[in-house]
Amino acid sequence: MAELIGAEHVATLPAAEPWLIDRLAECVAGPAQVGPGRVVAVLGGRGGAGASVLAGGLAVTAARSQLRTLLVDADPLGGGLDLVLGWEQLDGLRWPELAGTDGRVDPPSLVRALPSRGDLVVLSWDRGDLRHLPAEAMAATVDAGRRGRDLVVLDLPRHLDDAAVIALQAADRAFLVVPAELRATAAAARVAAVVAPHCADVSVIVRGPAPGRLRAAEVCRALGLPLAGTLRPEPGLCRGLERGEAPGATGKGPLAVLCQRLVDELTGRSAAGAA
Ligand SMILES: Nc1ncnc2c1ncn2[C@@H]1O[C@H](COP(=O)(O)OP(=O)(O)OP(=O)(O)O)[C@@H](O)[C@H]1O
Ligand SMILES: [Mg+2]
Repeated sequence: MAELIGAEHVATLPAAEPWLIDRLAECVAGPAQVGPGRVVAVLGGRGGAGASVLAGGLAVTAARSQLRTLLVDADPLGGGLDLVLGWEQLDGLRWPELAGTDGRVDPPSLVRALPSRGDLVVLSWDRGDLRHLPAEAMAATVDAGRRGRDLVVLDLPRHLDDAAVIALQAADRAFLVVPAELRATAAAARVAAVVAPHCADVSVIVRGPAPGRLRAAEVCRALGLPLAGTLRPEPGLCRGLERGEAPGATGKGPLAVLCQRLVDELTGRSAAGAA
């Protein structure tokens, strides 16, 4: 493997973690910046809630605002976050190469080659065989992102594996996306209970439509969590996704508007407001 990819070094985890973090920081980040970046996690309250789309929208919106952004796909069963962006044809390395098969990774030659466009860099799963992701690789990646990017967006699975727990614990904020439906709210309560011990700042994004007229405030009351924002139905978004258009790329529509406000709040660029 090392020869195949032209590796200069092979690091064995967890012993080489400090070295790995430094290399990742150099490679993901480029030159050092002033102050640490913000880390935000996104989870779905139930399957298909819209978490990956929101994560993509946040990352695209941040990059549109000239924020150096790292989007991390932490859901091995999610189908690949590069597909959400329409980046599947974009060359660059993905988790399987970074995770390796035996916990050994070579960050300089791998991470330097992550797919990127403008200010956005993405570490995604692919459509190949499922590989185990060492929690150390996730820890090193998130730490490097915090040190070298303005914003790190983590798309987390609802069933937290070790890598997802590490990522969640590193997050400054977590958004739980919950469709405005009774059963989704019940499912989200389970997810919230699993997430809360790992992140002090969890808030809810309620996504419409609300077929039973369930209100965002009622969803939040049931979950015992604050409301971070709401999303109106956006049919054009689904069509766009199928065509490979990245969510939020036009800067228009409910998702883009919400993402802009959340990014501004996260990075302290403007005063908080309601969407
Ligand atoms: N803001 C939105 N407006 C309209 N449709 C949306 C929106 N967000 C998501 N969807 C629709 O819901 C589908 C599932 O979204 P997404 O993949 O983001 O959910 P998820 O919570 O990440 O699901 P998973 O359980 O697979 O992780 C999308 O393919 C899209 O059709
Ligand atoms: Mg998802």
